[in-house]
Amino acid sequence: MINGLKSSYVQGPVSALLRDYDTCFAKFLRPSCNGQKILQAVLMRAAFRRFAEERVAIRQDGASTILDVSCGPGDFSVAWASDIAKVLPFGMIFYCTDHAAGVSSTTGERYTTATVKKIRTAAQRGDLVLAEAPTGIDADLFFGDDRLMPSGKCADVIHWSHSGYHVRDALGLDKDQSLAIETGMNTAIGKMWSVLDRQGLILSIHQTRDVSDGVPSQMMPISRRYSGVLDDVPELIERQIARLGGYVASVNFATPLFFAKLHQADWERLKRPAEWPRLGPAELRNLLLLNFCAYDFSDPDRAALEKLAKTGKLASFIDAFKAVVTQNDGHLLVKCAFQLIAKSQDVAMKLKMIAGQLRQDLPTFLRQMANQMDIERDGDQASDRVGAASRSAYRPVR
Ligand SMILES: C[S@@+](CC[C@H](N)C(=O)[O-])C[C@H]1O[C@@H](n2cnc3c(N)ncnc32)[C@H](O)[C@@H]1O
Repeated sequence: MINGLKSSYVQGPVSALLRDYDTCFAKFLRPSCNGQKILQAVLMRAAFRRFAEERVAIRQDGASTILDVSCGPGDFSVAWASDIAKVLPFGMIFYCTDHAAGVSSTTGERYTTATVKKIRTAAQRGDLVLAEAPTGIDADLFFGDDRLMPSGKCADVIHWSHSGYHVRDALGLDKDQSLAIETGMNTAIGKMWSVLDRQGLILSIHQTRDVSDGVPSQMMPISRRYSGVLDDVPELIERQIARLGGYVASVNFATPLFFAKLHQADWERLKRPAEWPRLGPAELRNLLLLNFCAYDFSDPDRAALEKLAKTGKLASFIDAFKAVVTQNDGHLLVKCAFQLIAKSQDVAMKLKMIAGQLRQDLPTFLRQMANQMDIERDGDQASDRVGAASRSAYRPVR
């Protein structure tokens, strides 16, 4: 599903599409129009090559234990696990975790079950080597005392990508209370910390509002004003890791998310829910992207944009994004922090050095991403008009 749309896509009622996380996530991630996962993968490959060279977190005497936290439906887990498999001399022991409510809308399967199956299949194809059968554990990351791994087990590498924002989902009326948010985040970090080997590392990738390098962050900082979505997850992580006596080295990266180029009148139609059932594919694409940008899937009966419409904020939300997208010739910059987190000082020193090298290499990585997006675009069979927007070559900002 990451690559474009299923043919049934535009037939369902628009509300159902907007309320469905998987549909919006797939739309957001389409690699011809979004560089995020491509650059994330480039960075991961480069980071793991350096980990192997520096002998950090990768076991030289047996299989390395990997824990994928909030794994999702598993396609991305397979992609990065297959990439890093190349630098693991004795293969991997793979664990994944997600909450029990994480269920694929197409197959009805739990994310953990789906991920385990896909990892097993990848091993059968020879894309990665498993030293033991993969294990999936259903656990709430942010609340309660569910364990992320079986008792007595530890991870050498914990991968935690894009789930921190969900801490608000279960908070109800407290979801904008900073203390409640921080408590949930600290619970999540504590759960990972307790299963991290002393010589291991956590790799966390979350959107950031950081602009200290002069590169703008144009998704969650805009949405936060409307839907409350967290744009400071990396800062919350850094604070708690410091309290626990650990260390964080960061590489911030910004990638383009292309919208379909629309006429003014078509943007206006997005502001009128009554018109949504009659939108064409390009308008629908932007509607779903905007809904994902608002990032509020906490209510299965009302999508983020429907909530904004109800509170009278929809038009202003759309105008805010339209202004940035129009100014950037069709895209906005989604900025993430790639954080390398260590428990011990010797691992931290190596990670700091590796992060510095990765930051230096970012211009090269961005060019690789832009080339890959061109290739994806060429192979893109989708019929909506977004191609017209993204064909104008993207110039990496660094
Ligand atoms: C944006 S997806 C990220 C999936 C994958 N890690 C990736 O980067 O593509 C967010 C994930 O967080 C999970 N999640 C949401 N609430 C959670 C909770 N309370 N405990 C554990 N995972 C949760 C969702 O089920 C989903 O798999």
